Amino acid sequence: MGPAAATGLRQARHRRVRLPDFPWDALTPFAEKARAHPYGLVDLSVGTPVDATPLVVQHALAAAANAPGYPTTAGTPELRDAAAGWLARRLGVIVDPSAVLPVIGTKELVAQLPGQLGLGPGDRVWIPTPAYPTYEVGALLARCEPVLGPADGVGLVWLNTPANPSGRVLTVDEMRAVVGWAREHGIVVASDECYIELGWEARPVSVLHPDVCGGSHEGLLAVHSLSKRSNLAGYRAGFVTGDPRLVAGLLEVRRHAGAMLPTPVQAAMTAALADDMHVAEQRARYANRRAVLAAALAVAGFTIEHSEAGLYLWATRGEDAWATVDALATVGVLVAPGVFYGEVGRRHVRIALTGPDAQIATVPERMAVLPPPQAPAPSVGGYRPDARTTGAHPVTAPSSAPSSAAHQPSAPRPPAGQPVRGPQPSSTGTGALPVATWPTYDAPGYSTSGHDNPAYDKAAYDKAAYDGAGYDGNGGHGVQVTTEPPDIR
Ligand SMILES: Cc1ncc(COP(=O)(O)O)c(C=O)c1O
Repeated sequence: MGPAAATGLRQARHRRVRLPDFPWDALTPFAEKARAHPYGLVDLSVGTPVDATPLVVQHALAAAANAPGYPTTAGTPELRDAAAGWLARRLGVIVDPSAVLPVIGTKELVAQLPGQLGLGPGDRVWIPTPAYPTYEVGALLARCEPVLGPADGVGLVWLNTPANPSGRVLTVDEMRAVVGWAREHGIVVASDECYIELGWEARPVSVLHPDVCGGSHEGLLAVHSLSKRSNLAGYRAGFVTGDPRLVAGLLEVRRHAGAMLPTPVQAAMTAALADDMHVAEQRARYANRRAVLAAALAVAGFTIEHSEAGLYLWATRGEDAWATVDALATVGVLVAPGVFYGEVGRRHVRIALTGPDAQIATVPERMAVLPPPQAPAPSVGGYRPDARTTGAHPVTAPSSAPSSAAHQPSAPRPPAGQPVRGPQPSSTGTGALPVATWPTYDAPGYSTSGHDNPAYDKAAYDKAAYDGAGYDGNGGHGVQVTTEPPDIR
């Protein structure tokens, strides 16, 4: 190698973005321990779907297998129509189909959005905490600074409702306040809504719903994944929609980058978005697993916090997260330590609802012999800003906005030095989690046998899907828009 090439290589290494360690590698020893359990491993760590991809989707994929030509980045008209139809039917959100842009699984978009919006060095991205790690990665890849609250130089705010890992649902008021603040400062708000079909004790609302955005999508993007709702994680299928100007800008970049969804996957996604029955069936499976796991955790002395929606239970028994992971591995159950999602999760674990039923059924028995909790980790004085990111934490807030560093957790925490024992009330105040009763699926004529049910009345089902009695609405009407961003953590 000549000196010029060697210099180039050195410079390339020097300029490489420093990313956090890939967290899942750290779980390997605990997976081995759990696998050695005589009943075998119950893997509730990653949250990868285990139920079959719906036949309606598989057939659509197969029927589109002959695809010699390139697909379009914008997606087929059928796909964009299906996405717009689903948004209207299920979320009460009206978009023009031309404002729908398919993505190759939403992780890909999350990791690239800051760069694809044109943000770069000197810009900041406000990410939630605890959070799905890819928001931070996306900011770092674009050489932006991730921050955990409002700050000068923020060009993009990420919302995640329902949230991974906590299952927290942002209220209409909270979302309106963020949107109002961001609009005042000309900042884009992207809302990751990949678990929006999985509301249990709260009904998640899209950032594009008129109650939140006042009927204008300006400056807003909503990101939707089909991985969990449709057991489609292996297909890589999602879409982004919202402000037509922003979507057009993303389309332009993504056309040049070749970020196209394969034609058969576009067909599969179209079928999935047009069919609500398989989502209802999948919801019912998760609701049952959630009830079994929540009861087992409560009996074993865990406190379940938030978890009012989404694919996970967010639980603590006061000790260090890794100690809980180790104890659960002893009984063959593998979970994710909360620290994977930020420092605020250092005493929590995330339990995914994605185990097969037969395995989940063994969890209560396993919990009966769970080793007791260790002494809690030393208190660090309440929640503190995340230690994962380098740079200026806590952030300096602009004068119109309070610093996020001052925000307090909304969920109860065990007092320092005192382990939590026995069933505890959840932060939602409901105690043990009930089986899901989102009215969407209580529509007249609905049965889990899906379209074969002769009593199925689609019009009634669709109407109930949005106007269901019991929609708590989170008080969206007559809400004062504030210029102050709320605590959305
Ligand atoms: C909050 C959140 N956003 C995005 C994703 C990415 O999903 P996918 O790439 O499968 O669409 C995940 C996956 O777990 C997630 O939890």
